[in-house]
This record gives sequence, C-alpha cells and structure tokens, in this order.
Amino acid sequence: MSAPGKIILHGEHAVVYGKPALATSLNLRTTIHLSGNDGSIFILCLPSIDINKAWEVTDLELLYSTIQEGNGSIPSSPDTATLSRLRQFTDAEDGNAKDLAIIVFLYLHSQIIGSRGSLAALRVVVGSDLPVGAGLGSSAAYSVSLAAVLLVLAGQIRQIPNSWTREELGLVNSWAFEAERIIHGNPSGVDNAVSTYGGLILYRKGEALKPARGNSLQVVIVNSHVPRSTKRLVEKVKERLDKYPEIIRPMLESMEALVVKALDTMQGFENSDANVCYDILEELIDINQSQLNVLGVGHLSLEHICLLCQQNDFHCKLTGAGGGGCAFVLIRPDASKEKVKTLIKSIEEAGYMSWLTSIGGSGVTLHESMPLSS
Ligand code: MEV
Repeated sequence: MSAPGKIILHGEHAVVYGKPALATSLNLRTTIHLSGNDGSIFILCLPSIDINKAWEVTDLELLYSTIQEGNGSIPSSPDTATLSRLRQFTDAEDGNAKDLAIIVFLYLHSQIIGSRGSLAALRVVVGSDLPVGAGLGSSAAYSVSLAAVLLVLAGQIRQIPNSWTREELGLVNSWAFEAERIIHGNPSGVDNAVSTYGGLILYRKGEALKPARGNSLQVVIVNSHVPRSTKRLVEKVKERLDKYPEIIRPMLESMEALVVKALDTMQGFENSDANVCYDILEELIDINQSQLNVLGVGHLSLEHICLLCQQNDFHCKLTGAGGGGCAFVLIRPDASKEKVKTLIKSIEEAGYMSWLTSIGGSGVTLHESMPLSS
C-alpha cells in the first residue's frame, strides 16, 4: 500500500479558517508492507524515523481491552482516557514525532481491527521518500496508507487494486483525518484529502472535494532543513489572528481571492497565452509568500531560498506550515535546462536539498495482496 505526499500551492493556514486551498499530490510516497509474523510477536518498523518496535501480541490485546472500543466503519477520535493510556504505554514525550507515529499506529490498529478479542501477529514495515516534518505531508501519507492497509485487513474496504469507490476512499480519508488530529491538533484535513484522492484539488473544510483541472506544472522543491512543528505554527497564526483580528482577517480574505485567481489561471491555460498565465502564476507566488510572512510563518532560511530563486529569475514560496520546512519554485516550460541546472546548483551550494518534479499523481494505492487474517 502506498500514499503520496503533497504540496500546497496556495491557501495554507487560511484553509484552517474555512478558506479554500489549492493542493496537489507529489510523486514522493510512503509505502507500507504488511505480512504475517511467525510466533506471538507483533512488529512495527519505521526505519526513516528509527522506530523498531516489537510487542507480545498478548500485551497489545491487554492494552486494547482497556481503551475505547473501536468500530472500523465509524471513524472516531480517541477519548482522553484512551489517549493517555496509549501515551503511558509508549512512554510518550510531548510532541515527539516518533511517539506520535506509534500512538497513531496503536490507535488505528485497535479501532479498525477491533479492540476486543485476539489479534494476529503481524510485521508492519513503513518506508518513505518523504522528509519528516518538512511540509510535504509525510504524516498524512503515513496516516492514509496505514488507515487503508488496516481497513483492507479488517474487510472494511475491498482488496482490489485501484478500484475503490468514493465511499471506500471516504472511509480511508476519515480515519486518516483522526490520525492527523492526534498528530497536529487542529488540522484542516487538506493533507490527508490530497494523499487519499491524489491529483490537484481545491479543498475547503466541510465541503465536498473538488478535483481541479490544471496544467501539470513542473516545480523544484527545496528543503530548508529547518525543523518545525505544524501544530505550533497553526497555533501561532491563531494567536496573531486573536491579537490583530482587523488586520489578519482581511489577509485571510485576500488569500482566498488569490487561490481563486490561481485556479482560474491554471484552468485557463488551454484558451490563453501560456506566457501570460505563467507571469500571473509567478506574481501570485510572490504575493502569497508575502501574505504568509504577514501571518508570521516565514523564516530566514525561506527568505534566503526565495532570494536565490529571484537572483536566478525564478519565483518561490513556502509550502505547508512554513517556519522552515520546504518551499517550491515554479519552473516555466520555456526555462532552459541550463538555467534550471544553475538554479539547482546555487540552491544546493547554499546547503539546501532540492528535487525537480512534476505535480499530480495517484492517491492511495494498493500494490500487492495482503494476508487476510487480522
Ligand atoms: C499543513 O500542511 C497546512 C496548514 O494549512 C495546516 C492545515 O491545513 O491543517 C498549515
């Protein structure tokens, strides 16, 4: 099973307040391989974040018998007692990404497979192309692929590669959202929606998802390597909004207008002069980067990356929560290979990591048959 990461082209943070966001899947993915394990040991392995856990199946059964009873067909949030029991079981520290990944695993496993009765010994191995905590939706790709693998195992969605119904995908998305809430506090749901459905989407909280038609853009993704917490950055915007509502609220309105303009421009490629469209998209990138700075989620490293791009005649903005993490650079189709190479060289010489990639690609995907005993 695999699920993609994402980039938010425009609308991050404003989307938490009910504004639309334009986001797309990436061809960087998280993959979960699940197999039966001999004996009575249950294994969870996430080598990219150094997790290698082995539990006696009977210990998990005992743990699950003391937390809320799950029902795979009804996604639900953990009650306070369940969360504190899981935290206690994992010796979790506040906000630690490793502990959160384990808690999310235990929660989804207990709720989807069922928290009462006997469990099968399994080996769950998670691999990922995505940097962790960098704004590319690594936690959503984990939550979505994990929810999907467990829902197949529980017989809640069919084990048929790539032909899930809207309802089946909806169930995956809803469980992944519960996992994202454990990790991020108050997420908008955009990351798990993109990872579930794939492609370019216009997302607005509480509304049916709108797949968007758009030119398949090429981008360079740049990792600033500055770690940050999405939860903390979302709280920071809330603090600024509460302190200066008359200043920040109009900024959120303006970000909404920018998303509408960007989507119009991307959908208008077929009938308009491509150069004019790219000029507009580049200006919107510059404007949106400034708006995000006003919300307080910029970072010196991101300004530095934008400056390097500007010096090479490219346009760039942060993507995701900001405060470090990743930025993306729009690559016009008429940009010469030489020019792109020079850009990448100057970014990498400054100590940042980059990938040239095109946006879009499939959402959660089943690749192989799975053991059917849970
Ligand atoms: C995180 O990828 C995007 C934010 O808008 C938070 C959210 O939508 O949950 C910053």
